[in-house]
Amino acid sequence: MWPFNQISRLENATPLDTVAAKVKPLVEKAMASRRVSDILHGVWLGHPLHPVLVQVPVGAWTSAAILDAVPRARPAATLLIGVGMAASIPAAATGVADWSQQDTQQQRTGLAHAMGNTTALGLYGASLVARGRGRPALGRLLSYAGFALASAAATVGGHLAYRQAAGPSHAVAHAEIAPPGWTDLGPLADLPDGRPTRGSIGEVALFVLRRGHQVHVLVDRCSHASGPLHEGVLVTEGGRECIVCPWHGSVFRVDDGKVVHGPATAAQPALQVRTHDGRVNVRLPGLSMGNDD
Ligand code: FES
Repeated sequence: MWPFNQISRLENATPLDTVAAKVKPLVEKAMASRRVSDILHGVWLGHPLHPVLVQVPVGAWTSAAILDAVPRARPAATLLIGVGMAASIPAAATGVADWSQQDTQQQRTGLAHAMGNTTALGLYGASLVARGRGRPALGRLLSYAGFALASAAATVGGHLAYRQAAGPSHAVAHAEIAPPGWTDLGPLADLPDGRPTRGSIGEVALFVLRRGHQVHVLVDRCSHASGPLHEGVLVTEGGRECIVCPWHGSVFRVDDGKVVHGPATAAQPALQVRTHDGRVNVRLPGLSMGNDD
């Protein structure tokens, strides 16, 4: 349906790549600190931070648009425009952090989203100046233009999240098709010791790490963007063995799938493991058949 089907065209707007090429080095420099990038991605929250923070500018500007229509409430509208502008700065920072780890088509859409919001921010700023200089009608006109543009940019952001899957856990979809109950993974002796390998149950690819008689199994497709974890590198973080995703460097604990470093914010589903007659059995918690212990 128009205009929503037109948003897809942004994914293939190659002229945006020129802009991305200029912006990327600056963003990478700003995100050089892992601590900063983890905070901005929302690793500490266990959820992407960007959609949480955008609630404030969206809510403030929507309320301002309503209050501007009521003459007595216009001072409150002016205040809310300022609140929305201030809140848009941290929201933008989290969006930039997420954008830095997206694929090319996602980044094109993300750039359009950011350009729309930046222009809206400029219009709101001009609106405040006009209001401060005693030109309230012009101020309202500028803020309504900003609201229209911010709404369009938010719609593009929604396309990025829902259509282009920038943000949701990519591991969950794989975990959901795992067969219920204990499933045989094969003989323990066939697993390489101390080196990640790829296993599978049904259609679900698994990251498998054997350490002697202990076996750790995670869903193989990274929750950030489906990178193959079994191709990653093992590291130690905080005294725990972890796997580094080969695509964007997210770090997960191998024993429980917890995110140690982003850009991933969703834990990697960890499978329960038991050995029986020298064979390894696995199952996803929550998918048991009830009496299959
Ligand atoms: S796919 Fe991006 S960190 Fe794994």
